Amino acid sequence: MIAVFSLLSILEIIAMYADTDAEFSGERSTNYQDALRLYPDAWLHDLKLMHDLLQPRPGESIVEVGAGTGYFSREIARTLGANGRLDIVDPASEQTQGLAEILPRNIRIHHQAAEDMELAFKGFDAVWSRGAIHHVRDKMRAFERFAAHTKLGGRLVITDIFAGTTLARYFDSFIARSCVTGHEVSFLSQDFATTICGLTGWSCPAFYDNTARWRFADSQHLGKFLRLLFSAKPEYSDEDCLEGVQDFLTVQDGGGSCTLLWPMTTLVAQRAATH
Ligand SMILES: C[S@@+](CC[C@H](N)C(=O)[O-])C[C@H]1O[C@@H](n2cnc3c(N)ncnc32)[C@H](O)[C@@H]1O
Repeated sequence: MIAVFSLLSILEIIAMYADTDAEFSGERSTNYQDALRLYPDAWLHDLKLMHDLLQPRPGESIVEVGAGTGYFSREIARTLGANGRLDIVDPASEQTQGLAEILPRNIRIHHQAAEDMELAFKGFDAVWSRGAIHHVRDKMRAFERFAAHTKLGGRLVITDIFAGTTLARYFDSFIARSCVTGHEVSFLSQDFATTICGLTGWSCPAFYDNTARWRFADSQHLGKFLRLLFSAKPEYSDEDCLEGVQDFLTVQDGGGSCTLLWPMTTLVAQRAATH
């Protein structure tokens, strides 16, 4: 009995530590959730791009790495249906909290880092991640873990900010300066991603432009969305955040709407037969 109690206490302490270690906690997580709650339609084009490249099908099993608030999770789980399953791997419990409260039956949440991913199920059809791999410290180890959980021929589909792009410059310049947590990350280069794939059991990846169109009623709303999504320090206004993005990216304003072109890149590889 005492041994069981001690084990539970140790597990609680580990869970607490994992939570406080998460970059996406407190204000950073609350603001991220508020941005998507206030502007749920801003990313509709991102959902279409996800379908084009991940191509989830009913009955498949998919693992989503760094799902955050679950904006894509809900859509993927709906597509997989009752005979499919979506496993979410994200170390930040505050990020996934809203999703956990309304958890659809075919979604399971695991509070693990990609580098330490260890799930009982090892036959996933695909690994999907969007906007999270640049937060993963040991990418080689993470890609190994992804391969260990994917069946032969299974897909690796990673949409992220890649090194050397204008989006990476925007983050390294404006977001790193304005975000309450800073933005100490490492963006994959296409060369390094190709090397990692080759060393961890994936085919030579293809890279696709994934420029999403983020839509708003006007530029003021875009500024507010960016201030919340990237948790700007109190001294940064909506207007500052709008100007910050205009310095690097294309904003099409007029005719009753405002669109930000958000130029991400998607890596697609297959689980190779030999490793
Ligand atoms: C910018 S958010 C993206 C969330 C979601 N994919 C989206 O597009 O809205 C990055 C997410 O990656 C998660 N993350 C950070 N480090 C991670 C790691 N080592 N392994 C897996 N996920 C991680 C964070 O907790 C956060 O939820």
